[in-house]
Amino acid sequence: MSEVLAADGLTKRFGALLASDGVSIDVRAGEIHAVIGPNGAGKSTLIAQISGALAPDAGTVRLNGADVTRWSVARRAKAGLARTFQVSALALEATAEENVMLGALGRDGGLRHRTARNAALRDAARAALDRVGLAARGTPASDLSHGQRRQLEVAVALAQRPRLFLMDEPMAGLGAEGTRRLTPLLDGLRAEAPILLVEHDMDAVFALADRITVLVAGRAIATGTPSAIRADADVRAAYLGDG
Ligand SMILES: Nc1ncnc2c1ncn2[C@@H]1O[C@H](COP(=O)(O)OP(=O)(O)OP(=O)(O)O)[C@@H](O)[C@H]1O
Ligand SMILES: [Mg+2]
Repeated sequence: MSEVLAADGLTKRFGALLASDGVSIDVRAGEIHAVIGPNGAGKSTLIAQISGALAPDAGTVRLNGADVTRWSVARRAKAGLARTFQVSALALEATAEENVMLGALGRDGGLRHRTARNAALRDAARAALDRVGLAARGTPASDLSHGQRRQLEVAVALAQRPRLFLMDEPMAGLGAEGTRRLTPLLDGLRAEAPILLVEHDMDAVFALADRITVLVAGRAIATGTPSAIRADADVRAAYLGDG
């Protein structure tokens, strides 16, 4: 099966509010699948159900064919689900390199010999930092710019050798220059693992996405290629307007 992620009929209520109304979405190997929609459409709620942070009221989540619907966040992470950019998980007082080593620890934690493990973790951390183009590896995360922290978060995720990236608004707060730098990095990441990308920056979405799903009021109203989504009458009426 080429679907890395298959979410089917995800439904989540908050009191009277139906935040996810039977949402189905899949992510295939090698692709960036973007989720767009107005504020409050249920994008973060969808990501939370896929990551395991929120339990759906109905529906299933499958990762590489395995039903993970009842798995914890930690178990899904071990199975290769890497989440970035929601609540930043960086240790601010630790250096960039130490942050990535912590990320890699989950994978190499089984190595018995401490020296061997430390060397392996350091090698993995440096490779990941090189990959994202962050040279300031000895700098405390607290001293990095907002854009550099985004790069670092990607490096932390990469060091876990993920099978799927979940990203909730990676461009938020970056400004034009930061977005311009992060876009090609995300573009190349799909070679490592496919990405489910929630993003408001439409330039980034239309530049990066292989497919786009549009959420409005908890419902997926359309899924398709960027050009199909641009041309979709329902989408234009509900969200993209004259965009
Ligand atoms: N824990 C919660 N309890 C109650 N309501 C919630 C909770 N989390 C989200 N909601 C509501 O569910 C709806 C969907 O929220 P969600 O955060 O998923 O939207 P979003 O598409 O990510 O929006 P944004 O673009 O602003 O990030 C909103 O009306 C929100 O207020
Ligand atoms: Mg959100």
